[in-house]
Amino acid sequence: MIRVVLLGAGNVATHFYSAFYKEKTVEIIQCYNRKNIKLHPDQKEDLIITDLSDLKEADVYILAIHDDAIKEIANLLPFRNKFVVHTSGSVPIDVLGTNNRTGVLYPLQTFTKDTYVDFSTVPFCLEAENSNDLQTLKTLASSLSKKIFEISSAQRGILHVAAVFVNNFVNHMFAIGNDICKEHQVPFEILHPLILETAQKVSLTDPDSIQTGPAVRNDTKTIERHLNILKEKSQKNIYQLLTTAIQDKHGKKL
Ligand SMILES: NC(=O)c1ccc[n+]([C@@H]2O[C@H](COP(=O)([O-])OP(=O)(O)OC[C@H]3O[C@@H](n4cnc5c(N)ncnc54)[C@H](OP(=O)(O)O)[C@@H]3O)[C@@H](O)[C@H]2O)c1
Repeated sequence: MIRVVLLGAGNVATHFYSAFYKEKTVEIIQCYNRKNIKLHPDQKEDLIITDLSDLKEADVYILAIHDDAIKEIANLLPFRNKFVVHTSGSVPIDVLGTNNRTGVLYPLQTFTKDTYVDFSTVPFCLEAENSNDLQTLKTLASSLSKKIFEISSAQRGILHVAAVFVNNFVNHMFAIGNDICKEHQVPFEILHPLILETAQKVSLTDPDSIQTGPAVRNDTKTIERHLNILKEKSQKNIYQLLTTAIQDKHGKKL
């Protein structure tokens, strides 16, 4: 049985609580957050603490808190030589300091409190200073998922940049598409199958090999028509920037 203390009450802490709560090999013995928030309706109130000095003995302390607060909270922990991990994609392991044994338990997925997550498909990127602790993280993560990766802080930093492109930026493209549809009273849902097909294809093959559209075809008349439709300056700029980027990559001239 791995005894876990969860620190934080945001998206990740809430999903971790619900997922670990069901596992027989994991026991969440305590949760810390500043506002005394319950992470689950069944959670016993006496297991929630708001004062770090009340932290109990555990096998792993998971800091699922804001990136910018990880260092501060790690420094405030009232013990030494315990196993402390954070859950961030972009924060290096050494931010956790030297008072404790450190690690990273990064679930590479997007989490919002009210959206269901199937943890069995979530890749976990693990890092730990020593091999025993890494084994603890592997046992913990594999209670939820089969996709376990040992990833260094440097590799995690790289993955995080790539994740910003494939998730945050792509989602912004969806938002622009939605805005354009709304502006012209066309249902955005007509595009849903295209979105799903693109995401599905890219999980099976190299993205470069499935690039389609006017940019890669060098279809200048269509590109011109599209630019005339777009009224917002930022939409025009993004269209032009991405068209150039696609053409540069595929060796076409604008
Ligand atoms: N959401 C995702 O999709 C996702 C995916 C993978 C990894 N992560 C990582 O997981 C971590 C948590 O992300 P999240 O999305 O769960 O964040 P979140 O929903 O914004 O929650 C952040 C938590 O941090 C707490 N916190 C912030 N500053 C604090 C401080 N100074 N002292 C104590 N607690 C503090 C907040 O408490 P208050 O409410 O009291 O401010 C809140 O409970 C981050 O490192 C993030 O990079 C997030």
